[in-house]
Amino acid sequence: MAVQQSKTDETSNATKSDSSNQNSPLFVTVDGCNIGRFFEKSCTRPMKEHVELLKALELRSDDVLIAAFAKSGTHWIWEMTSMLLAGKAEYEKRTKEFAMMEATKVEKIDSQPSPRVLNSHLPLRLLPLQIKEKKVKVIHVYRNVKDILVSAYFHISQIPGVGIKSFDDVERVMIGPDVPGGDYFAYLKEMEEYKKSNPDVPFFIMSYEDTKEDPETMVKKLAEFLDIDVPLQLCRDIAHATAFSKMKEADKNKQQVENLPQSKMYRKGEVGDWKNYLTVAQSERLDAAMMELQSCDYHFRFTL
Ligand code: A3P
Repeated sequence: MAVQQSKTDETSNATKSDSSNQNSPLFVTVDGCNIGRFFEKSCTRPMKEHVELLKALELRSDDVLIAAFAKSGTHWIWEMTSMLLAGKAEYEKRTKEFAMMEATKVEKIDSQPSPRVLNSHLPLRLLPLQIKEKKVKVIHVYRNVKDILVSAYFHISQIPGVGIKSFDDVERVMIGPDVPGGDYFAYLKEMEEYKKSNPDVPFFIMSYEDTKEDPETMVKKLAEFLDIDVPLQLCRDIAHATAFSKMKEADKNKQQVENLPQSKMYRKGEVGDWKNYLTVAQSERLDAAMMELQSCDYHFRFTL
């Protein structure tokens, strides 16, 4: 779980905000970005040190990186991408956390065979600098903020000791609609700026909702982006195998990363579930906050 501070904090108050979270049970703040404290156990280092190692990490030109704000459907797209690169609709034996940059020891990332499907919720400025030099393919997944809020609530509130008890709590620590340039918004805006200032880095942008609506077409487009010639039948098989219910079942047999709190990743997998949980006031607050992303090239869908 990586969440950014507001833009103002990030630029002028990084040191202050980095120390302000020292006692938070949920986050450790590195360079203005809130990162799940629980990852320090699985990556086996203080997060600040881990991030420095990540930035310096040697990449390979056939690496692929999935970059997404937490709860945007990273597991889904990771499995789809892994299947495409493997050329078969068979599940990876390990969970995507083995290739999740903030959660995994750098030595383990380093020793993984190619092609690696790396993934992260961190903003790109905290990820390997070589993304630019090696022109690593980046798959950026985004999802509407209301479903992210609900999904994050059910995920984080399961983690013992983090003190998240309501949707308002999640909104406050993670989404930040009351703060101009709040966390979710800052992540997406920074991504947009990164794309614009690095036109040589290949980006494929996927919306959760579009993928849900027509997974087969999305698998085909993803294959094109990855420069893989994939028979139509395999695209169909991959879209089918990565449907929510299938992935939820397959997850039971996957090898999990040690020392990560276990929480249910496959909850509902729907678009518009927010309507069952958010108040009108909360929904309106998020609508207002969305205005911040008006100038960005995102097409948000709150229902299908
Ligand atoms: P919900 O909590 O709304 O169900 P991430 O992988 O980035 O942590 O995102 C998790 C969200 O993606 C969860 O949303 C999860 O259920 C959903 N998800 C996982 N696999 C999916 C799939 N194959 N199809 C649709 N949604 C999926």
